Amino acid sequence: MRVIVESSPEQVARTAATFVASLVRRKPACVLGLATGSTPLGLYKELIRLHREEGLNFSQVTSFNLDEYVGLEPSHPQSYRYFMQTNFFQHINIDARNTHVPDGRALDFEAHAEQYERRIKEAGGIDLQVLGIGSDGHIAFNEPGSSLGSRTRLKTLTSETVRDNARFFEHIDEVPRLALTMGVGTILESRRCLLLACGKHKAEAIRATVEGPVTAQVTASALQLHRDVVAVIDDDAAGNLYRRDYYREVEQAQQALQAGKIKFGG
Ligand code: GLP
Repeated sequence: MRVIVESSPEQVARTAATFVASLVRRKPACVLGLATGSTPLGLYKELIRLHREEGLNFSQVTSFNLDEYVGLEPSHPQSYRYFMQTNFFQHINIDARNTHVPDGRALDFEAHAEQYERRIKEAGGIDLQVLGIGSDGHIAFNEPGSSLGSRTRLKTLTSETVRDNARFFEHIDEVPRLALTMGVGTILESRRCLLLACGKHKAEAIRATVEGPVTAQVTASALQLHRDVVAVIDDDAAGNLYRRDYYREVEQAQQALQAGKIKFGG
C-alpha cells in the first residue's frame, strides 16, 4: 500500500484530486467508484474547481457509488444519492444517466444488488475507487465481521456507525439501521483504490488498516491484499502509524526518481 501523508485535509483533497483528474484525462470514459461522508467533500470541491477552471471533462465518465441507506428517498437530504447530486454531480458535466447509486427503496434487495454488480461489470469494471473509512475500520458499509469476499448486499449498521453518522440527522433514531453496500470483494476488484482519511478520530482505524493483520474485524485491512492502493491521509490520521517515517522516505525516493535525480549505471 502506498501511503502519502499530507499536512492538512486541504492538501489531502488536492493530492487525491490529482489521482482522479489524471485518470479522467488519460481515460475520458473511465469508471469511477465514489464515496460519501465528510472526508471526500474536499476532493469533490477540488474536482469541481478543476472542471470550472481547467475544463476537466466528465462527460464520458461513469460512476458507481459504494452504498446507500435503506428506506431513504433519493430526494431525502441524508440519502447518499442526494449527497452526490448536491456536492458533486450537479456541479460538473457528468451525464446523470451514467451515475449509479444503489437504490435504498428497492423492493427486492437481492435482485437489485445483483443488478448493481452486473452493471459495474458491463461498464468494464471500476478503474478507481474512492474510499473513506469508518472509525471502526469499515469501508463502504462493510462493518466488522463482513466477509472479505462479500458482494453488494444488505448490511446492518453497528451502533458505533449509527452514532458516528447521527451528526447528519436531527435525531439518532432517524439514522437507518440498514444499508445497501458494495462488498469488500466488489471493492477489491477495482483497478485502483484511493483511500482517504483525516483527523485523529481515524488514526486507530488507519493504523489497523495499514499495519495491522488482514482481518474481517477491520474490513479496510483487506486493502493490503490489493496490488494498487494509494492511501492519502493527513498528519492526524497518520498519528498512530509505526512506519510513518518510512512512508515519507518512499515518497521522497519516488519524487527523486520522477525528477530524474537518481542516476543509473556509471
Ligand atoms: C459512512 C460511509 C463510508 C464512509 C464513512 C466515514 O459510514 N458509508 O463510506 O467512509 O461514513 O465518513 P466520514 O468521512 O464522514 O468520516
